[in-house]
Amino acid sequence: EIAFYNDQFVDMNEKVVPIQERGHQFGDGIYEVIRVYHGVPFYLDAHMQRLKKSAAAIELQLPFSVAEIKELCMEGLRRSDMEEAEIYMQITRGIHSRQHHYPDQANSVFSMTVRRAKIISSQVRTEGINVLTVEDDRWKKCYIKSLNLLPNVMAKQKAITNGCQEAVYHDNGIVKEGCSSNLFIVKNGVLATYPALDGILHGITRQIVMELAKERNIKVVEKTFTLDDLKQADEAFVTSTNMEIVPLKQVDEDILPTERPISNQLIKAYQRKVLEK
Ligand code: PDD
Repeated sequence: EIAFYNDQFVDMNEKVVPIQERGHQFGDGIYEVIRVYHGVPFYLDAHMQRLKKSAAAIELQLPFSVAEIKELCMEGLRRSDMEEAEIYMQITRGIHSRQHHYPDQANSVFSMTVRRAKIISSQVRTEGINVLTVEDDRWKKCYIKSLNLLPNVMAKQKAITNGCQEAVYHDNGIVKEGCSSNLFIVKNGVLATYPALDGILHGITRQIVMELAKERNIKVVEKTFTLDDLKQADEAFVTSTNMEIVPLKQVDEDILPTERPISNQLIKAYQRKVLEK
């Protein structure tokens, strides 16, 4: 396991973050999670584009160029000697005596870890997971991959406490996304997911899944749908960098059908995509 802080590789357990780092005092920063398959970061350019978008949205200057960040990822991977890994990176507005407004000087801090990927078992992938629906109590700019994850942390804990594996946000009955994933339903052969508006994270996996569906002539619509639509769906699944595609077995008290032709087709297609990259 490899870690990098500001300007150097460090031991994973080394104490490196100064007390006045705005990342932990304010959550003033952004992050990305990238999956590495057989030594190759998956959709790295798309993650870099989203990182730039998040940075611009909070007026944060990246301390390194995208080319330099990509090089750091590759150097981290070389040092880790891992083939199946997960890269976590975050950029904060740096170190300054505590004040809410931005410091005058741009001194943002990049940090990164390279760790072993948690592989989802094929049992979970065939059986599916249970999700708990919760009211979306986050802010209005969820397209920014912000470090402020307290609502997400609390939603996930509530899901776990209730015997579920993921929480699904809804806004007045309109289903948005998971607390760390995007969500799709299938009804009458048509795939639907919440539109890429400011209120959800524009997931890279979500985008890949939409493309895979289109290539297979599965109709995809970005539209809003309700909790009832979710509970009465023919199939439903969540997507994320680390979960990839995981079907839903149960939503609150409602059990979904166990036949999942479209989900299974997309899971296979995703696995093929991973192999060809
Ligand atoms: N989470 N929605 C939210 C709120 C997320 O936090 C994530 C990812 C996604 C899926 O995005 P992508 O397909 O680009 O991973 C959607 C990451 C993995 C995390 O916080 O660990």
